[in-house]
Amino acid sequence: MTDTQHSPTAAGSGASATESFLTTEMYEAARQVPPERVDAVVRAVLDGVHAAIREHKVTYPEFQAAKAWLIQVGEGGEWPLFLDVFVEHVVEEVQAETQQGTKGTILGPYYLPGQKRLTSPATLPMREDETGRPLVFAGQVRDVDGNPAPGAEIDMWQADADGYYSGFAPHLPEGNLRGLVVADDEGRFEIRTIQPAPYQIPTDGPTGKLIGAAGWHPWRPAHLHLIVSAPGHRAITTQLYFRGGEWLDSDVASAVKPELVLDPQDQGDGTARVEYDFVLERDAGARAA
Ligand code: DHB
Ligand code: FE
Repeated sequence: MTDTQHSPTAAGSGASATESFLTTEMYEAARQVPPERVDAVVRAVLDGVHAAIREHKVTYPEFQAAKAWLIQVGEGGEWPLFLDVFVEHVVEEVQAETQQGTKGTILGPYYLPGQKRLTSPATLPMREDETGRPLVFAGQVRDVDGNPAPGAEIDMWQADADGYYSGFAPHLPEGNLRGLVVADDEGRFEIRTIQPAPYQIPTDGPTGKLIGAAGWHPWRPAHLHLIVSAPGHRAITTQLYFRGGEWLDSDVASAVKPELVLDPQDQGDGTARVEYDFVLERDAGARAA
């Protein structure tokens, strides 16, 4: 990032991600995990840790360094950041085994519910001088049989052209580039926004330090976040990426799927347009995150 003045510190965005997570219903659900599941899963996690220690002959100094790092992740409020980057994609992969229709991918730490409701055709709330290539994103929400899904809603959030999310970067107005777009009676929608920039995990916190210490890179390719829903259908949490974009092949969060890559076409006036249709399966009492 060239703009260090606006660079969201890990302390800033990490801690706000923790705060916002602890107020969601996702966290409420955590109280209901039965003891047999806790036993089985935690045992497997510990078995994995023990195996890594044996395989790599982990030393006392390394063990203490790991302990110090884990403490810092908690103190810095970076658990949502770390877990959503390095673990969530596998949870999503398991969920996807039972989900048909449009591919899902990770939610990430920056979803904020309760955004402004907009009727399609809509423009996401943005600053008057919002930079970035204007993008028209249009399509239709249908069911797995190809029927339009009336009452569809597209809850959308994204980084700006510098890679920052409103609500987590203090210089951005609240609700910037976030919106809940209501599609028409046939599930059709048209949303005006800007093309986001790649997103860099904050490098100044413990997650960034680990990435540096391991010699990895901290980047996610540019993406739009979406939760697409319709009455009677299972909501899908997904992201859409941009063809030719940097980091598509090496996303630090391992959340790219080939079906989720857009190829916007320049309209000759500096604006790009792309169509993408969503397919939802009927609700079997299940709810997506
Ligand atoms: C993170 C950020 C994202 O924008 C995202 O989509 C996934 C993870 C993160 O910083 O943890
Ligand atoms: Fe993101």
